Amino acid sequence: MLQRRPRRNRKNEVIRNLVQETNLSVYDFIYPLFVSDSVKDKFEIPSMPGIYRFSIDSILKEIEECLKLELKIFALFPHISDALKNNQASESWNENGLYLKTIRKIKHTFPECVIITDVAMDPYSSYGHDGVVENGEIVNDKTLEILGKMALAQAQAGADIVAPSDMMDGRVGYIREILDENGYTNVSILAYTAKYASGFYGPFRDALDSAPKFGDKKTYQMNPANKKEALIELELDTLEGADMVMVKPALAYLDIIHLFKEHSNLPIAAYNVSGEYAMIKAAGQKNWIDEKRVRDEVLLSIKRAGADIILSYFAKEWAKDNFNK
Ligand code: PBG
Repeated sequence: MLQRRPRRNRKNEVIRNLVQETNLSVYDFIYPLFVSDSVKDKFEIPSMPGIYRFSIDSILKEIEECLKLELKIFALFPHISDALKNNQASESWNENGLYLKTIRKIKHTFPECVIITDVAMDPYSSYGHDGVVENGEIVNDKTLEILGKMALAQAQAGADIVAPSDMMDGRVGYIREILDENGYTNVSILAYTAKYASGFYGPFRDALDSAPKFGDKKTYQMNPANKKEALIELELDTLEGADMVMVKPALAYLDIIHLFKEHSNLPIAAYNVSGEYAMIKAAGQKNWIDEKRVRDEVLLSIKRAGADIILSYFAKEWAKDNFNK
């Protein structure tokens, strides 16, 4: 007779639940939101069904709905008209600009929510790059000065966490110093630590109209072939004072999430990016896959790999489907 029968632990749903190793909770999620200066109410992004560019008023409604579902943490991104873009991203520290105004309004209306701001030049850059462009190159140290101004303006507007997504060298330390010098020692830094030069960002660039106007982002975002290099970025961001570290994208990089889990005591975040969302939505719409089942499997896999925090466009619908369960 067989002595070992692993199937005994799978024999009914109650026992399966009892021995389940990984569970998702609404508290694991961060929900990305897009605010736009050129929509009346909201505009659905064609390559991201169910995800919108919001006006300030409609983003407040969206947040109110999320708060009722216990989803309280938002990563906010700006969609800016081309006329306001330039090589210095100067709109990013304009106090009366859309982004900073939105942060103030959200924090004033819903003090209980947590706002994570994006520190990067691309939404405001006439070149669609994450850094200052000179002679066709992305200049690191001049970009740091801009990121510093941007992060400080966001902290002044009420950001709880600033999240540099640009991949310039030294930006975490630079931003930490500026925040501290100005009394914002309580503002946290969520670092996009291992951010790969990925094809999975396409729909996001549609959402923000932020695709690079020339070249690609391979001189600053990481080569998808590299793993050890992610540990160098992890070491630097940790030394420079990151409070949380992120791997992005998530699905093609589950090994990197696992690597971070083994090598770091900081909370690990993973960004389930726009292209990962779009693939599941598109196949679901064609009835080629069972969308919700695949969604839940993918989200679970990200947590199982070692992520403590998941940024996902699925956050709200997951919260809705699992509310009070
Ligand atoms: C750029 C930025 C990108 C995303 C977040 N911040 C894309 C890029 O590097 O061009 C992508 C997020 C997503 O695809 O969901 N600072």
